[in-house]
Amino acid sequence: MKDLAIQKNVSLQDRHTFGLPWKSRFFVELEKEEQIAGLLNFAKSKELPVLILGGGSNMLPTETYKGLVIQNKLTGREVIKETKTFSLLQVAAGEDWHKLVLWTIKNEMFGLENMSLIPGTVGGAVVQNIGAYDVDIQRFIYSVTAYSLNTGKKKVFTRDECKFEYRNSIFKSSDLWVVTSVILKLSKKFKPVLTYKPLQILQSSTSELTAKEVSREVIKIRRSKLPDWNRVGTAGSFFANPRVSKTKARRLQKLYPEMPLFYNYGSTKATIPAGWLIEHSSLSEKNRKEFLYHKHALIIVNKEKGGDVSITKGKRTVAVVERIQSKVSQGFGIDLRPEVRIF
Ligand code: EPU
Repeated sequence: MKDLAIQKNVSLQDRHTFGLPWKSRFFVELEKEEQIAGLLNFAKSKELPVLILGGGSNMLPTETYKGLVIQNKLTGREVIKETKTFSLLQVAAGEDWHKLVLWTIKNEMFGLENMSLIPGTVGGAVVQNIGAYDVDIQRFIYSVTAYSLNTGKKKVFTRDECKFEYRNSIFKSSDLWVVTSVILKLSKKFKPVLTYKPLQILQSSTSELTAKEVSREVIKIRRSKLPDWNRVGTAGSFFANPRVSKTKARRLQKLYPEMPLFYNYGSTKATIPAGWLIEHSSLSEKNRKEFLYHKHALIIVNKEKGGDVSITKGKRTVAVVERIQSKVSQGFGIDLRPEVRIF
């Protein structure tokens, strides 16, 4: 255990963005791929479950983890191929996502700018198939390298094999892999995606728009709508935006003409913002004040982060999550699915 640098009974309160009191029976930082075999053998010999942690920006922990938490700290960025039109960039999974986005812009590799300021690591970004302002990471994935938690064997996944869906992938749904690196295919030519309404203001720009300007605007929008996770406990959007049949969407819109509705190109379904449903649910004022971000009802917060957070806060938060689900189900006949992982 000593050789493997595994620690016992470690607090993970500062290692996830919700800032809740959380401990793990065993904990280790993964700094080299070569550690993986030994760590998996250790877990197997003790019959411990294994949890892979990136930046901890998509989880709500409620109790001590009774297994081994491996936090991915693998670093490294390397352009492995360049053509006239694109670059293949290999990035280790423990790299900070936002820093990577800024670095790609500076080095004239384009595509990631709409996903500026999303907290977490590159590995977490792939697992969750992060997205913002009409761009998601899957479209830039060339391949993903991961180790099986069962066999310890390494596998390179093509983009298709990753089974990306809205905020989901094979790595999130099966929980059987530790992602170690990713190859991104980024364009040498900047093509802005300004379909998201608040970004359209950039369209009127008289001079030629740069990736840096788009990134800056995205950062501005996020700062104005979302809490600063350094100060307020949060895991971003708590629920996925539900997709319902067009018939159901039309029926609901007759009842609630002001309800926003988005039609996804080529899909038979319509998307309703979960934030709107929660805002218009019958959740009590008391719960709203304590648990919802005042500027965005889809963001569940821990306002006590950094202070003396009660040990029951995680469990109380989950109770409110369930209450929100039941209120939205009763009010609108829609089931909200958490995109944050509850432990
Ligand atoms: N809305 C309300 N009330 C609210 C919040 C939102 O009515 O309290 C309505 C508004 O009509 C607004 C619409 O919902 O126009 C959409 O809101 P917003 O643009 O903030 O986006 P979202 O659908 O809530 C999604 C992603 C975000 C991503 C933004 C921008 C999901 C679950 N969330 O949020 O991703 O940044 O779009 O693209 O898909 C995350 O996943 O953690 C995340 C922050």
